[in-house]
Amino acid sequence: MTIALPKKKIKQKRAAKPDLKVKAPIVDALRKYYQNPSVQFHIPGHTKGNAVFEDFKNLIGSRAVFLDTTDEFNNLGTLHPATGAVKEAQELAAQAFGAEKTFFLMNGSTMGNLAIALTLTHEKQKVIIGRNCHRSIVTGMVLSGAEPLWVIPEKLQDWGLWGEVKADDIEKLLEENPDTGLVWVTSPTYEGVVSDIEAISKVCQKYGALLAVDEAHGCLWNFSDQMPTPAMQLGADVVVHSLHKTGGSFSQSSMLHVAQGANIDIAELEANLKMLHSTSPSYTLLASLDAARAYLQTAKGRRGIRTALSNAKYIRRRLSKFDDVDILTFAGESDLTKIFLKIKGLSGRTLDQMLSVEYHLEVESAADEGVLILSNIGHAKRDAIYFCECIESIVKSDFKDFYSLEECKMMPLCVPKMAMTPRDAHFKKAERIPVKDCIGRISEEIIAECPPGISVLVPGEIIEEKHLPYLKKYETISVIID
Ligand SMILES: Cc1ncc(COP(=O)(O)O)c(C=O)c1O
Repeated sequence: MTIALPKKKIKQKRAAKPDLKVKAPIVDALRKYYQNPSVQFHIPGHTKGNAVFEDFKNLIGSRAVFLDTTDEFNNLGTLHPATGAVKEAQELAAQAFGAEKTFFLMNGSTMGNLAIALTLTHEKQKVIIGRNCHRSIVTGMVLSGAEPLWVIPEKLQDWGLWGEVKADDIEKLLEENPDTGLVWVTSPTYEGVVSDIEAISKVCQKYGALLAVDEAHGCLWNFSDQMPTPAMQLGADVVVHSLHKTGGSFSQSSMLHVAQGANIDIAELEANLKMLHSTSPSYTLLASLDAARAYLQTAKGRRGIRTALSNAKYIRRRLSKFDDVDILTFAGESDLTKIFLKIKGLSGRTLDQMLSVEYHLEVESAADEGVLILSNIGHAKRDAIYFCECIESIVKSDFKDFYSLEECKMMPLCVPKMAMTPRDAHFKKAERIPVKDCIGRISEEIIAECPPGISVLVPGEIIEEKHLPYLKKYETISVIID
C-alpha cells in the first residue's frame, strides 16, 4: 500500500502578530550588523560570504553566509566574558528558565556536562551517576578523575530500555559513601522516562551532596504546564538543556543553568566553560539560542508546544487500537512528545528501515525493541496522521516476512564491574585486540553508540561475556596492558 507524502501547505498563513514583549538581543545585534555592513579586514576569511563555494552559498543562502561571523567584532557582544547582547541574552534565558545564571553552550550539552564535571568533581572524588548517563558524563570523569559510583536505573526489560533512577537507591549509596560530593542523574531519558527529582533532591540535601540533572531532552518543560516539572524547580542545582534537540535552536547549541541559591562557584564554572569553548564562537549559533528561547516565549511558540502534545496524544490514541502495536507509557509524570513504539515481530532496526525505505520517514532512533519518534514543536497535524498511516500500513501488511534476528544488540542493561576510574584507565598504556579476546580485560575506551550515547563500556570497566552481543560492530577494542 502506498501513502502520499504529506503535502506542504501552499496557502500562507497570516504571520502571527509579533510578540513585542519578547526580546531577542543577539538577533537584534545580528540584524544591525546586516543592515550596517562594515568593510571587513578580519576573520572569517570568507569575508561576508564572498569567498564561499558557490554551490554551498546557493544551497544555504547568501544571507546565511553573510551573517556567519564570530563574537569579537562589530560590537556584537562577546561570549567570554559575556558582554553586550550575549550577556543580555543569557540573562533573559536565565529568567525564562528560572535560573540564577545561564550559560550558552556552543558544543552542545556535551560541553555543559564536561564543565559540570570539571567544576563540581575532582580526582578520586566519589560521584553517584546513573548508569544510563550520556557518554559526555563519562568523558567528564576522564577529565576530572572522579570515581563514578553507578546507580543502576530500573530496567524496562520488555522495552530493552533503562527506566527511572530511584531515590532509595541513591540514598543507599549515599549512606555507604557519605563523602560523595555530587549526584548526577539523567531525566528525562532519551525515551522520556522521568525520575522523581524532588525525592532525589531531598536525599541529596540530607547527605549534603549537590544534584546535577542532565535534562538535555527536557528543555520545553519550562514553557508548558502540561509537561513534567523542570528539575530546577524540584531542587536540582545545575541542569543542561539541549535547546537544539527539541527547543528549536540550531544543532550544537545548548544551555547550562545554575539554580538560584545553588552552592556552586559560578566564577569557576565560567572559567571552565571558557577553557572548553572555542575562542571564535559562531554568532549565528548564539543567535539561534536567543531566538529559540524568545520563540518559546511567544504565543506561536506556546502554540507549537500545545500542537506537539496534541499530535503526540493523537498518535498514542490512534495506534493503541492495534494489538500488534505497543507504545511506552508511564503512570506518573512523563513527556508525551517522546513516543517509543514497538510492533510485534519486528525489531526496532527493521521497523526503522521499513519506515525509511518504504515511506521516507525518519525516526529519531532505532533501538533493539522499537523506534523512538519525537512529536516536535515544528510538526503539523498532517505529519502525525502520516506517521499513523505508515504504522497502520505496516501492521496490516505481511511484515513478519521481513523479520530477522538482529546480529548486534544496542542497549546493554548491564551492571558494570569497575577495575579503576575512567581517568586512570584512559591514561594507562593500551592495546587494540580482537573483541573475541577481550573477556576479562579492562576497557580503555568509551564504547557508546549515538544515539543514545549510553555506554556499553566505560574506561576502567571489566569486559565480560554479557557485553559481546553489543560489540558485534567492533572488530577490536582498546584494552589496558596488564
Ligand atoms: C541525555 C543526554 N545528555 C547529553 C547529550 C549530549 O547533548 P549534545 O548533543 O547537545 O551535546 C545527549 C545527546 O544525545 C543526551 O542524550
